[in-house]
Amino acid sequence: MSEYIPTRKRAGRDPLPAAGYEEAASQEEAYEEACEEAYAEAPEAPMADAAEAEMPGEDIDPADVFFRMSHIDKFYNIGDERMQVLKDICLSVEEGDFLSILGPSGSGKSTLMNIIGCLDVPNEGEYILRGQLIESMTENELSDLRNREIGFVFQNSQLLPRLDALRNVELPLIYAGVPPRERTRRAKEMLEMVGLQDRMHHYANQLSGGKQRRVAIARALVTNPTLLLADEPTGALDQKTGRQVMELFRRLNGEGRTIIMITHDLGIAANARRVVHIIDGELTEEEIMHE
Ligand SMILES: Nc1ncnc2c1ncn2[C@@H]1O[C@H](COP(=O)(O)OP(=O)(O)OP(=O)(O)O)[C@@H](O)[C@H]1O
Ligand SMILES: [Mg+2]
Repeated sequence: MSEYIPTRKRAGRDPLPAAGYEEAASQEEAYEEACEEAYAEAPEAPMADAAEAEMPGEDIDPADVFFRMSHIDKFYNIGDERMQVLKDICLSVEEGDFLSILGPSGSGKSTLMNIIGCLDVPNEGEYILRGQLIESMTENELSDLRNREIGFVFQNSQLLPRLDALRNVELPLIYAGVPPRERTRRAKEMLEMVGLQDRMHHYANQLSGGKQRRVAIARALVTNPTLLLADEPTGALDQKTGRQVMELFRRLNGEGRTIIMITHDLGIAANARRVVHIIDGELTEEEIMHE
């Protein structure tokens, strides 16, 4: 595995390539362990069958949208039972959008985020991101796409426990091949932006949940991704810190960054320009909050 983002290996496909950076090896090891723990319970994700995917909206040039999902289904097998977690999801997001996906616990938000972020694949449907048909891409191409375009803030922060805050934030830059001095500078800058300049050498277990979340946000932004994908970014935060994070997101969006934020909190969702509701794996309605 060559990046800091947990990726479920697909059955019958090559694992992700080695990082190629000597110094990344120990982080990578720690990272792999973290991933293994995180996904110990998870079944293999079956490949989408591109031949069965429908092709709606063929008249729309895919290059005009940041991504487009058409009729996405996702199933999980639990024992003998097949549970449908996402049902016929159709969703288009333009570059520069700020979208909230709002729904109760268990409605499929994180599952949808994993598919949007190309960490998981749908069982049915078509997903085009930046003009590229995701099902047709190799693991290496997907890994490059993620590293280049997407910053992830995971629901439970997923900081590596054996690295301090600074090294956690530097990690994506190590995989991007950024030289040490430059990556330390950029990581420090990001930690300052989230107000953690005095916590750079703290480890995750020495940081509150809110501060861990801010480290995770700094890590997501350090590569300057075009898309920020954030799963419950204010989840473990007190109100004041939550507001600061929302101000930061609105500023980033004002600067042109595309943001997708997952939340179960209507007040938080209202910071976005658009809100879509997900209930029992179905997108039900859309509200425009800010023009
Ligand atoms: N790897 C998995 N294997 C089996 N079932 C899963 C898996 N991941 C999620 N599920 C199930 O899929 C459904 C949707 O889960 P998901 O994590 O996407 O919900 P969520 O909306 O993010 O919930 P929360 O707000 O609690 O984070 C749940 O019923 C969950 O138990
Ligand atoms: Mg979730």
